Amino acid sequence: MHGGNIYQAKERYGHTQFIDLSANINPFGPPDGVLERLARKLESIVHYPDPDSVALRARMSELYHLPFENIILGNGAGELLFTILQALRPRRVLIPLPAFSEYRRAAEAVGALVTPFFLGAEGWSSLPLPESAQEAERFAEKWRGLLSGQDILFLCSPHNPTGTLLNRKQFEILLEVAHTCDCRVIFDESFVDFLPDEKRWSAREYLASYSNLTVVYSLTKFYSLPGLRLGAAFGPARDLERFQEARDPWSVNVLAQEAGLAALENRTYAEDVRKKLTECRNFFYSEFERQEFANWRLRPTWVNFALLELRTGKSDRLTESLGERGILVRDCSNFAGLEGESVRIAVKKESDMAKLLLALREIEDERNSFKA
Ligand SMILES: Cc1ncc(COP(=O)(O)O)c(C=O)c1O
Repeated sequence: MHGGNIYQAKERYGHTQFIDLSANINPFGPPDGVLERLARKLESIVHYPDPDSVALRARMSELYHLPFENIILGNGAGELLFTILQALRPRRVLIPLPAFSEYRRAAEAVGALVTPFFLGAEGWSSLPLPESAQEAERFAEKWRGLLSGQDILFLCSPHNPTGTLLNRKQFEILLEVAHTCDCRVIFDESFVDFLPDEKRWSAREYLASYSNLTVVYSLTKFYSLPGLRLGAAFGPARDLERFQEARDPWSVNVLAQEAGLAALENRTYAEDVRKKLTECRNFFYSEFERQEFANWRLRPTWVNFALLELRTGKSDRLTESLGERGILVRDCSNFAGLEGESVRIAVKKESDMAKLLLALREIEDERNSFKA
C-alpha cells in the first residue's frame, strides 16, 4: 500500500539491495551526531520514555518559536493522524484527492463519512489563484459550499503525491472559511523542510490566530528516521491535551526522543541537504529532458519527489520492470483521484537518478524493439 517496503521487495524481486525511490526519504541523512547519540543512549532503553518528551519539545519550542504547550510529539506523523481522529471523533471529513491514504483510514477507523474533493495529478496547481477581491470571494464561496457540514478538512502541502504547494492566499481563505463553518483544518506539512524557505510555507504562524488549526509535521523524511519514527503536531494546548489522553502515553520511545534532539542540534544540516537535493533534482530533470523519452512525462515538483506519467502502458508493469532491475518506485494506481497511469519517484543521489534514467531508457527501447 505504501512505498518503502523493502522487505516485500526482497521477496518479490530476489535482490538484497535496492535503489529505493518509492519512499520520499532524504538520502543525505540522518544528520551527523544522530547515530553516535543513539549508540551512546542505547542503555536508556531499560527505562520508560518521558511521556511528555519535555527535552525535545523544549528544543522545538525554541526552534519553531512556539509555546511549549502547543507542541506534542508522536511515533511518526502517521500515529498522530490516528490519535487526532480518535480524540476528535468527527462525523464528516473532507479529503482532497489524491492524498496520503492514512487520512482516509484514520477517518474511517472512527466511523467518519469521507467526502472526496478531486485535485487530480496537478494537485494544488489545479485550484484557481484568487488574485482580485472578486476572485477571492468566488474561491471562498465555493469552499463555503464544500465545507459546510464538514468537521475536518485535511490539507497537505507540500502535497503527496503531486509535489505541489497550496498558495498562501488560497490557504488563508480556506482557513478563514473553515473557521466560519466550524470546521477544523488538519494541515499536514510533513515535507515542508524540503522547501528552500520552509518558514514561509509552514502553517505554524497561523496557530496564534486560528483555534481551528492543527499542524502535523514529520521528522522521518527530512531527518531520515522512518525506521525510528518521529513526528509532531502543533495546535491549541487544550486540543493537544485531548490528543494525549486518547493514546498510549509512551508512544515516542527513548531513542526516537534522543535522535530528535541530536538531529535538531545540527545547525547546518538543513541548508546543506536542501542545496544537495536541489542539485540532484536539477540533474534528474535536465538529464530526463535530454533523453527525449517518448513514453514518460515528468511533472514539475517543489520537493523531493515527483510524478512520472506514462503515455502508454500500465504503471504496475513499469513498477515491476524497474523492481526487477533493483529500482523501487511507488506505483500510483491505488492513489484514489489520480487519473491516468503514473508512478511517484523520490529524488535521491545523482548516481541513483542516473541508474533510474538508464533503466527507463532500456525499458523504452525494449518496448520499441518489441513493437517493431
Ligand atoms: C503526507 C504524509 N504525511 C504523513 C506521513 C507519515 O509520516 P511518518 O513517517 O512521520 O509517520 C507520510 C508518510 O509517507 C506522508 O506522506
